[in-house]
Amino acid sequence: VVDIGKLYGKAGLFTYDPGFSSTASCESKITYIDGDEGVLLYRGYPIEDLVAHGDFLETCYLLLYGELPTVRQKHDFDYRVTHHTMVHEQMARFYQGFRRDSHPMAVMVGSVGAMSAFYHDSTDIADPHQRTLASIRMIAKMPTIAAMAYKYTTGQPFVYPKNDLDYASNFLRMCFSVPFEEYKVDPVLSRAMDRILILHADNEQGASSSTVRLAGSSGANPFACIAAGVACLWGPAHGGANEAALKMLAEIGKPDRIPEFLARAKDPDDPFRLMGFGHRVYKSYDPRAKLMRDICREVLTATRSDDRLFDVALELEQAAARDDYFTEKKLFPNLDFYSGLTLRAMGFPPAMFTAVFALARTAGWIAQWTEMIADPSQKIGRPRQLYTGHTRRDYVDMKRRV
Ligand code: ACO
Repeated sequence: VVDIGKLYGKAGLFTYDPGFSSTASCESKITYIDGDEGVLLYRGYPIEDLVAHGDFLETCYLLLYGELPTVRQKHDFDYRVTHHTMVHEQMARFYQGFRRDSHPMAVMVGSVGAMSAFYHDSTDIADPHQRTLASIRMIAKMPTIAAMAYKYTTGQPFVYPKNDLDYASNFLRMCFSVPFEEYKVDPVLSRAMDRILILHADNEQGASSSTVRLAGSSGANPFACIAAGVACLWGPAHGGANEAALKMLAEIGKPDRIPEFLARAKDPDDPFRLMGFGHRVYKSYDPRAKLMRDICREVLTATRSDDRLFDVALELEQAAARDDYFTEKKLFPNLDFYSGLTLRAMGFPPAMFTAVFALARTAGWIAQWTEMIADPSQKIGRPRQLYTGHTRRDYVDMKRRV
């Protein structure tokens, strides 16, 4: 707590909490985390149950509306999402302005933001009907946008959505079909992708969700807010960690080099960190990492990939668990640790890993945005700062400056 009287000569107190490690910025009924026990609940339902029994669109419905859908509600929701998967043809031309070798996340930040120019009606946030339409549009079009970003950066033609496929299969087909060769979706991979999307769908006030809320608090339209979320997610301390974790595993290369990297991670003079390790809230094993490890095993079996980096990852996890530095600091694998290996086995290049994360997290972002906009007590987000610069001083004429 800072006494602002000392700083500004006025009475009053405020809290200084860099990184918001103990400040709640909002009330929310969407996602609950018990970081000490490794518990994650979406609207009260354990992540393990949703991954075992549900599907991604059911999870989207749950996050958005607060309850699991009935058969009828699920059918209607799936139908609405399925009928909004196309993007405006001009959007496709918009992509042509990006350099061919752009990172897919760079293309996504731009194309998601540009949606507000194409779907003008959905920018009327005062109208609940338009807010729902914006949510459906975001969830429905995000796989198309992400797949188009991938196709564009690989120099291949776009593949249009095929709406008799389920959500995950449609996405895989849009990414991996090439001219004259329709991608045959393996049901094991499609189910794995669906579960990966569920795992990434929300995680309460992570940096990107807080960014979406902060952007939305000014009344900005939902597409602009989600674009802000995509930009934030890209960083290696957040969603970019999956790409960074795979790079790190490749650099380690073989189990006998693990001690060297553990020593670097512990060295206070070395900025190196174990990527895919540690979390601000999960101070025991991230429950999503356990589920992702199982999905990874299944995908490696289904694709007959003999991935030696999976063995390196398992060994690294065990070696860290035997090391006091990591146990005392409560550093365990997080969701990103095994997701890169899994996505790579499915055929995605590292640059697409965070794009897949963004596609999934759109469900949480739009649910968080909707909850915030509907809250009558909502105010514009305006953090304070602890000013550490000069006190008032006199202007010095340029000729007299040294
Ligand atoms: N490897 C080595 N040491 C670490 C790691 C790591 N991955 N993470 C934290 N530490 C150490 C820090 O050096 C610090 O040590 P100190 O107390 O001696 O200074 C201590 O643990 C606490 O670290 P903070 O950075 O203060 O923890 P914070 O909660 O701010 O950071 C974060 C959480 C950003 C996730 C961090 O653990 C990290 O950088 N991890 C690697 C990146 C990563 O995997 N990000 C993905 C996050 S999950 C997600 O987005 C799905």
